[in-house]
Amino acid sequence: MLQGKKIVLGVSGGIAAYKAAALTSKLTQSGAVVKVIMTENAKWFVGSSTFQALSRQPVYDDTFEEQDPSGVQHIDLADWADMFVLAPATANLIGKLANGIADDMLTTTLLATEASVYIAPAMNVHMYQHASVMANLKKLDGFGFKFIEPGDGYLACGYVGKGRLEEPETIVEVLRKETDRRRQLSGRKLLITAGPTREKIDPVRYFTNPSTGKMGYALAREAAEMGAEVTLISGPVTLDTPPNVKRIDVVSARDMYESVMEHFPDQDIVIKTAAVADYRPAVTFDHKMKKKDGEWEVEMERTTDILQELGKKKTTQFLVGFAAETQNVEEYGRMKRDKKNLDAIVVNDVSEAGTGFGADENRVIWMGKEEEKLPLLSKQDVAREILDRIVREIRDL
Ligand code: CTP
Repeated sequence: MLQGKKIVLGVSGGIAAYKAAALTSKLTQSGAVVKVIMTENAKWFVGSSTFQALSRQPVYDDTFEEQDPSGVQHIDLADWADMFVLAPATANLIGKLANGIADDMLTTTLLATEASVYIAPAMNVHMYQHASVMANLKKLDGFGFKFIEPGDGYLACGYVGKGRLEEPETIVEVLRKETDRRRQLSGRKLLITAGPTREKIDPVRYFTNPSTGKMGYALAREAAEMGAEVTLISGPVTLDTPPNVKRIDVVSARDMYESVMEHFPDQDIVIKTAAVADYRPAVTFDHKMKKKDGEWEVEMERTTDILQELGKKKTTQFLVGFAAETQNVEEYGRMKRDKKNLDAIVVNDVSEAGTGFGADENRVIWMGKEEEKLPLLSKQDVAREILDRIVREIRDL
């Protein structure tokens, strides 16, 4: 269960704070050590002595009231935590966190922690649906925060709708599952390629494609969270390196080939999301080509298909390719999987608006031993689904 897990429970000022008391009790019964931080407004709803009695731990509410002079409380708590749970998370707390505001004990500790943070929102249905709250949640999603979505039901304000804090039993179950997930790739080495490549014609011109690297970076983030040792070989993108991921930057298909080949032998799992150029200019000029009258024909030559090479070389590695298709999506996917000797391919229908290149969402088909069409999901959720399937298929090998 959650035996020995160090959990900081952040309670903010909503009526659902009373459920945080039950949550504290259930987490403690599951073996976790729970330290509660309350906001000032949370104390309007529940007293700190309730949390103290249920957790048998001190309760924190004041950044400046140092209980132990040998340390700095909000930093020590931030470092102590294995995970953070915000329940209930009010619109105000969500807004502060999304915008880096740290004006009390809870928000300062949150900015200082490197632990995973699970946000369980609770508020009136219209507040929850407000454009600014939605934008903040989206921003937090992009920062890598996790959510325990509010349920539908009767709200204390009299409305019926989405906004009710998820039940304490369900929150405990989510955390238990997450804890299990975090061990599933521990000890595994995982290589991911991401982003486009650039194929130079001269110092100021190159061929490329619209890949932004989002899918590969989402996979790298999730795999690292599942305990894998992740190497991310990335073409030129504007994304931040996910935590605990070793990133190697490359530019051309040739650079990517060399880097992938160097790292391939000791990997357990390789996922190739990169949109590698299939052709590059046959000649690269050292100096800028001056424009001239008439046409300019650029002769192109094939690059090496890195994935196909890996398919030939692979020994024990579980090899996953990606394919972007606009027609006969499943048929072409299956053909590529078999031709390149892959264990699985993830096929992406890039003809559909709002998915594929540059989008935040993706609709993919998993084609490993099992085949499954996944619904439209955020790329982070697609990454989770893909990694879950890899874990499952490796276990069944
Ligand atoms: N790939 C690769 N090296 C290349 C080209 C592609 O490793 N030079 C990999 C991609 O990383 C991806 C997979 O091959 O995992 C599929 O890429 P895609 O462009 O969809 O397919 P191709 O095999 O290039 O086939 P086609 O262009 O005919 O669709």
